[in-house]
Amino acid sequence: MNELQKKDLNNIWHPCSQMKDYEEFPPIIIDKGEGIYLYDIDGKPYIDAISSWWVNLFGHSNKRINNALKSQVDKLEHVIFSNFSHKPAIDLSEKILEVSPKGLSKIFFGDNGSSSVEISLKLSYQYHKQTGFDSKTKFISLKDGYHGETIGALSVSKTPLYSEVYSKILLDTIEVNSPDCFRCPYFKNRNSCDTECFSHMEETILKNHKEITAVIIEPMVQCASGMKMYPESYLKKLRKLTKEYNINLIADEIAVGFGRTGNFFGVNHAEITPDIMCVSKGLTGGYLPLSLSITTNEIYNAFYDDYLKLKAFLHSHSYSGNPLACSVACETLNIFKEEDVLTSLSEKSKYLREVTDEYFKDLEFVGEVRSLGMICAIELVKDKTIKEPFKFEDRVGYQIYKIALENSLLLRPLGNILYFMPPYIITKDEIHSMVKKARESYDKFFK
Ligand SMILES: Cc1ncc(COP(=O)(O)O)c(C=O)c1O
Repeated sequence: MNELQKKDLNNIWHPCSQMKDYEEFPPIIIDKGEGIYLYDIDGKPYIDAISSWWVNLFGHSNKRINNALKSQVDKLEHVIFSNFSHKPAIDLSEKILEVSPKGLSKIFFGDNGSSSVEISLKLSYQYHKQTGFDSKTKFISLKDGYHGETIGALSVSKTPLYSEVYSKILLDTIEVNSPDCFRCPYFKNRNSCDTECFSHMEETILKNHKEITAVIIEPMVQCASGMKMYPESYLKKLRKLTKEYNINLIADEIAVGFGRTGNFFGVNHAEITPDIMCVSKGLTGGYLPLSLSITTNEIYNAFYDDYLKLKAFLHSHSYSGNPLACSVACETLNIFKEEDVLTSLSEKSKYLREVTDEYFKDLEFVGEVRSLGMICAIELVKDKTIKEPFKFEDRVGYQIYKIALENSLLLRPLGNILYFMPPYIITKDEIHSMVKKARESYDKFFK
């Protein structure tokens, strides 16, 4: 362990980690980043195959974003966002509405993904309360969904690994079975099914709609639970039913937004407009924490009244609308527009899938290779004939993660699911090298 690692472990409690693991496997101290590469203090490169927790879109140390940040920092680093405003936030609001689903028109600023989820849950509850639907106090969310780590966000996150320990202090929410296309209980597949799995959502809504304020969902891909992908018809059915029963649809686009699935937003696959949309992560190209909860005039108007009626949304964060974050978000959206990013991604994602199939498809412990846009996942299983998962205690994904790091590749498997979610500036050669390194790591582990 080097001196910096020792100092790190003396003082720092790292996120989503068992710190005891660090005794054997101390944190890698990163010195700089460039393009898809991170470099440690000894100059060793790592391919950032997961865009540093799904945030980076256009590479580390991107010149355009660097310049936007540099020019903003000399003008205004921060200002209170209540009663005050600034051009970067105003510009961002116009740019984001330009690419958002039709019908979304008002933006509330937060400072990370979880805060955006909290804001959206509160908005939905208060909207219903102020429009005469006091009984609507509960949220529906999907099994295996993930929406963040604060108490509200965790209450609608149905990934027991993160939420179970807090179950006694979480909100009382309703869990509905999620689409599970790999282990479909109806024995259908993603392309041929009629989303029979929607029936549980339908029954739950029909039975409980009087008390349901919103359904929150990760459109197209349940990311944190293992890149579980499902057809857009589920979203279409959900939009129709939630409208019928005066239930808000909250689309959590925090991981899948900004081109990740091939369309600008996940909901675009189904051509639907949610009532509230949460965005963060890629919003700033991976530079600074910022989030937006984007909603409709209908919801906004339910809060708009004389102050003394006490209908205002009195939610705030000190760093709401931070100008530095807004300026890099504006530049991120400029890059999308000026460099025709979505078109270039379509070819890259096809190639990513082809190469992953070539290296992984028929291996003994690969249950499924699945992909959507620039997300490509490999589900490892102990026995592929019966899709039997590896045991939790074997930590197969974690072992492969450590081997891959030796081989200059930053994967961060979700349990036993390896996945690639690289920055969009990755070249075809780099895609090939990334997937090959992952295969080498797999081979080394299973040899
Ligand atoms: C779908 C989704 N929602 C919410 C969050 C929480 O975002 P943050 O980590 O910025 O709080 C995440 C984070 O991974 C996410 O994937």
